[in-house]
Amino acid sequence: MNHIKRNNNMMKFDNLKLQATSICLIMMVSLASSAKRDVGVLLEVKRRQLKGYDNELDDWLDSARNAPCSWTGISCQEGTNEVVSIDLSSFNLYGEFPADFCRISTLRNLNLSNNSLFGTLNSSAFSLCSHLVSLNISLNYFVGFLPELQTTLINLTSLDVSYNNFTGEFPSSFGYSLPEIQLLHLEGNLFNGSIPGFFSNLTTLTHLIFCFNDLFPSQLPSDIGRLTKLESLDARSTNLIGPIPNSIGGLVSIKLLDFSSNNLSGKVPGTIGNLKNAENIQLFSNGLSGELPDTFRNLTLLTWFDASENNLSGRIPESLASLDLLSFNLNDNSLEGAIPEVVASNPNLHEFKVFNNKLTGSIPFDLGLNSELVHFDVSMNNLEGPLPQKLCYKKQLQVLIIFGNKISGNFPEVYGECSTLSRVRMQDNEMLGKIPDAFWSISGIEHLEMSNNHLQGSIPPSIVDAELLKQLLISGNDFSGALPDVICNLRMMAIVDISRNRFSGQLPSCIGNLKKLLKFDGQENELHGEIPKQIGSMSELTELNLSHNQLSGNIPRVLGSMPVLTYLDLSRNSLSGRVPVELLKLNLNKFNVSDNKLEGEIPSGFDKSVYWSSFNGNPGLCSSGIRGLSSCTKAKPASFYMVAVLSVLAVILLGSLIWLFIKARAFRNKMRRSWKITSFHQGRFNEHDLLSALIEENLIGKGGSGLVYRVRFKNGQTVAAKRLFGVHKKPESEESFSSEVETLGKIRHGNIVKLLFSCIGDDFRVLVYEYIENGSLGDVLHGEKGGVLLDWPTRFSIAVGAAQGLAYLHHDCVPSIIHRDVKSNNILLDEDYRPKVADFGLARILEKDLEDDPIMSRVAGSYGYIAPEYAYTMKVTEKSDVYSFGVLLLELISGKRPNDSSFGENKDIVKFVTESTASYSDRASDYEPKINGYSNFDQLVDPRIDPSPYDYAEIKKVLDLAVSCTSALPADRPSMRRVVELLKEKTRPVSFRK
Ligand SMILES: *[C@@H]1O[C@H](CO)[C@@H](O)[C@H](O)[C@H]1NC(C)=O
Ligand SMILES: *[C@@H]1O[C@H](CO)[C@@H](O)[C@H](O)[C@H]1NC(C)=O
Repeated sequence: MNHIKRNNNMMKFDNLKLQATSICLIMMVSLASSAKRDVGVLLEVKRRQLKGYDNELDDWLDSARNAPCSWTGISCQEGTNEVVSIDLSSFNLYGEFPADFCRISTLRNLNLSNNSLFGTLNSSAFSLCSHLVSLNISLNYFVGFLPELQTTLINLTSLDVSYNNFTGEFPSSFGYSLPEIQLLHLEGNLFNGSIPGFFSNLTTLTHLIFCFNDLFPSQLPSDIGRLTKLESLDARSTNLIGPIPNSIGGLVSIKLLDFSSNNLSGKVPGTIGNLKNAENIQLFSNGLSGELPDTFRNLTLLTWFDASENNLSGRIPESLASLDLLSFNLNDNSLEGAIPEVVASNPNLHEFKVFNNKLTGSIPFDLGLNSELVHFDVSMNNLEGPLPQKLCYKKQLQVLIIFGNKISGNFPEVYGECSTLSRVRMQDNEMLGKIPDAFWSISGIEHLEMSNNHLQGSIPPSIVDAELLKQLLISGNDFSGALPDVICNLRMMAIVDISRNRFSGQLPSCIGNLKKLLKFDGQENELHGEIPKQIGSMSELTELNLSHNQLSGNIPRVLGSMPVLTYLDLSRNSLSGRVPVELLKLNLNKFNVSDNKLEGEIPSGFDKSVYWSSFNGNPGLCSSGIRGLSSCTKAKPASFYMVAVLSVLAVILLGSLIWLFIKARAFRNKMRRSWKITSFHQGRFNEHDLLSALIEENLIGKGGSGLVYRVRFKNGQTVAAKRLFGVHKKPESEESFSSEVETLGKIRHGNIVKLLFSCIGDDFRVLVYEYIENGSLGDVLHGEKGGVLLDWPTRFSIAVGAAQGLAYLHHDCVPSIIHRDVKSNNILLDEDYRPKVADFGLARILEKDLEDDPIMSRVAGSYGYIAPEYAYTMKVTEKSDVYSFGVLLLELISGKRPNDSSFGENKDIVKFVTESTASYSDRASDYEPKINGYSNFDQLVDPRIDPSPYDYAEIKKVLDLAVSCTSALPADRPSMRRVVELLKEKTRPVSFRK
């Protein structure tokens, strides 16, 4: 029995063995066949759908051992050899979405990121992919809508479609077809729908990232707090509006919360204190208001906090200040009160930025004692008291910015030990005393700005150690002594402004070694001696101001060969000798040698009445062209030599007179008329009336090319008559002048001032234009009486009109006309404030006409409006007008002239705006402080305009356009025609914050 039983068992066992073997066999066969099938699928996809791989997929060969598991980009399950992952990221692939990869039923992860895949995804794109756990198609060129999901992707935990060009709404099926989704990356696309309510149904989410989409302005779902597993919520730049919902407190797992650069409004809800795991909260650049809640005290893990550029008020909560933050940012709000003392106890604080608020009191005494401060910026507040001694105690401080306060007391001696500093801006305070020698010689310092304090002492030779110094801006203090010679060793130096101090001694002659110097301002000091000739070798110097010193000797001729010098002010010194004729080679926007002891005749190129103020106050100078200066015809004391020369001249003169007499007879008939009138529009004009009206009392303006008179004819018509400077020297040029003027006279456009007629005589040329009632935009915006208040819609329509006028000149005139001097003073406004472009086309005609005249031939615009390339190429193109027009747009937005002093000593409006936008976009690594405290948009906008929400959006649009018009590279600027299109594009209103 036992035996039988055993046998039985044996049989059973054999049976089992047999079964096992066959299962094994079947498995092996099926394994082999699944591998074979996968190979087939992969090769088919490679052949049919993918192109462009650089040999990376060469090892995808049927014959390879262990194919396909050994292939590049393929991973298999160990043991079973089933393909579970395909990772073809960054392989240079192109082609459409290879949906057939999903035919591999064992596939879990498909990563196609960072290739050049393109096209739209059709509605069945993902329908084979329901078994995937992760799918990544980020960083490709997919376009169109993201399709609704036709199948539920029951296993999918991670979906990344970021950085493509998907547009439209987020598909609503995402709300119910992604039951396991944890990571959802939608950022960096062109999605333009609203924020969907279904986001709050995705309760499995840990990461929801949809930043950098230009969504339709919408609110966060009010029940967003349901996402209790969410660790990251990144909604930067997505047009969020409305308040932060109270339910935000439900995001108890959140570590990163980024709502920056939106239009959120209302208060920061107290429930934010429930985010106990929060490490990083970014709320900057919104319209949040009210006080920050005290519940911040609960966020004990918070390390980075930034709520700058909002409209917060009240005090900085002590609770926030006592947190162990690395980075603390509350600049650009309306915060009041003192900086809480508890800030000082914070051991890890690296960054402390509270600039542009209304903070008062003094900076906490111990700040820096416990914190490893790296970046400290409290600029533009009302802080007072001394600079704390301990700010650099931990020897980490790199950026120290305190400008625009009332900080007083002696400059702390101990700052000389702060060897880590690279950027110091402490201008516009009330600091006293001597800067310690050690401070001048900090070797890593690049920017040192201390203007407008009461600082004393001299610049010590040890400054030679500050070898990275690029900007030294110390004007308006009480510094004295001579500039040390070693300053010439600071080869990185770009801008030196030592103006309005008591510096004495001579300018070091080695100064020419500063090859990168762009600007030197030494005005209002006590410098004496000669201007060193070596200055001439500074090939990048654009601005030299040495006015109001005691400099003597001649003006060095080499100044005339400086390639980019456009600003030269040597007035109020004791310079003597002649005005070097070489200076005519310069392309000067500002030229002043007045109030010196210069002598002799003014070089003929300068001998024009426009230069009166440049030469005035030099009793020894004489001129034949400038009224108000002594005339050169006065007989000089006759010497024997002189008499001889004069006799020879007399003979020549007599000869010429005889010749002229004969000529004159011959041509008498031809010369019957002394002027020629050309009329371009209907109407009769009396030239006698015109010419007799060109008198002082009718003068209404003075431009670069001539004087403008208002003339009222007897028939009641009023015109503006422009008498051009200079007279054509060559009779043959009269023809070309007339024909050019005729071209201008034919232009008819509603936004261009009509040229009515020209009147050309032997010694004058007058162009007569329609008279425009309200004068120039420049006068209206900046007029002496404060100007007329223009609201934004008027300014916008002026921008559109002026753009149309210029576009007409550029694109519709044959030959096209470059204006060359676009500026607010050349945009006239009629009785309805409709703009009309004036003074077009003249510059070129005058240039042609006066080719021999080096100064006139280089007229190419007005200071502040001139495109940067002009300094290097001396060429103007349509794109130079576009640049000037961009400046004009900024002028309309800001209500300020392009070189208004509020933009900073060395900046014009363009630099101001580009720097503030650059630091705005480069937020993460923001070590560039905002310029003069004007960091954001709201502060650029003319305070006199009170924009509606719609205006607000429009201003933003115009600002963007102005920035692209003023691109440094001409090629990056749009054409005028495009500018008109962009201006006329519909503006989508955004919510109003201010
Ligand atoms: C994606 O959109 C950007 C911005 O609109 C555009 O410049 C780019 O050409 C688009 N790319 C594709 C492939 O459509
Ligand atoms: C979103 O963009 C698409 C394609 O660019 C466009 O057709 C649609 O009108 C836009 N929707 C909205 C709300 O702007």
